[in-house]
Amino acid sequence: MELSRRKFLEITAASAAASTLPMAKVAGKSPTPRNKTANPLVVASANGLPGVAVAYKKMAEDNADPLEAAIAGVNLQELDPNDQGVGLGGFPNELGVVQLDASCMHGPSKRAGAVGALEGIATPSLVAKAVMEHTDHIFLVGQGAKQFALKMGFKEQDLLTEKSRQAWLDWRRTLNPGDNWLDPDDDRFIQQSAGTINMCALDAKGDIGSVTTTSGLSWKIPGRVGDSPIIGAGQYCDNTVGAAGSTGRGEANIKVCGAFFVVEMMRRGMHPREACLEALKRTIEMTESRLLDEQGRPTFYVNFYALSKDGKHGGATFYGPSAAQRPRSYGTYAVADDQGPRLEKLYYLFEDYERPRKMMF
Ligand code: GLY
Repeated sequence: MELSRRKFLEITAASAAASTLPMAKVAGKSPTPRNKTANPLVVASANGLPGVAVAYKKMAEDNADPLEAAIAGVNLQELDPNDQGVGLGGFPNELGVVQLDASCMHGPSKRAGAVGALEGIATPSLVAKAVMEHTDHIFLVGQGAKQFALKMGFKEQDLLTEKSRQAWLDWRRTLNPGDNWLDPDDDRFIQQSAGTINMCALDAKGDIGSVTTTSGLSWKIPGRVGDSPIIGAGQYCDNTVGAAGSTGRGEANIKVCGAFFVVEMMRRGMHPREACLEALKRTIEMTESRLLDEQGRPTFYVNFYALSKDGKHGGATFYGPSAAQRPRSYGTYAVADDQGPRLEKLYYLFEDYERPRKMMF
């Protein structure tokens, strides 16, 4: 779905109009009631396609709570050793240790939980939920998060799979030409990557939950946490408005509190996809010049995804899909509703042919 110039201007005009709304009027606006016959809705990053089907089924057939449904959805990826962006099998940090981040919010109870740099537990989303449910805190990190998880009955395991250990080793060997590690025979360039999953769920009653989980940036400095466990950046949920989340370069999103920003734009009346585009524009405005090309466009990725309480959804990314180099799921997000699970197109700010040549994570 290409964002035509006309559409873009419409969106920009709507954004401008929304941003001039007086705060008192915004604050006084009553939440959109959810239609009593409404169906559940689940929205996620594209890697959540199997998960949105699980989350939808849980809400539609078992009447599950929306946060429980969303977490069940992301657990699929967290426990999949072949998914190198989250949980078991995630890419490790620069020392070869897998450190996981996650956060969640529960709309009806207005509660939140998060963990950062968690080692040895495959499902940080469930540990974040345990922090939310069993403590007066919101955010536990490192050894404290792990000790808490073990006390709550989570089982410790080695999260570094052979595939991810090999990828780390390849990266380590190619790092410095003059070090004591012998380079591989081929001439590979091992890029950094991250494979976060965000999922937001709306049940038929209009209650909302959101979760984001990740192994973060591959080869990161130990202790680094990205946006995923930051409430308001990696995900955010307001039961009167909607929910939003993000994937991509956490360092860029943290500075704009992107998920919170998207929800606030929806509160002012924006469609979820317009709100996501607006958050991307703000992200660029807040990016240091070393990460922008000569035309002021980002040389990294950030995506936003959102759903509103009245059942609308959308997502946006910086660049349109490439013809050849991208996997089929690039430029899409996952949705499940009464029409079934599917990938839908992300809106975007820049045409693909304008994509800066040297893109980093
Ligand atoms: N968005 C995932 C990260 O930056 O860690």
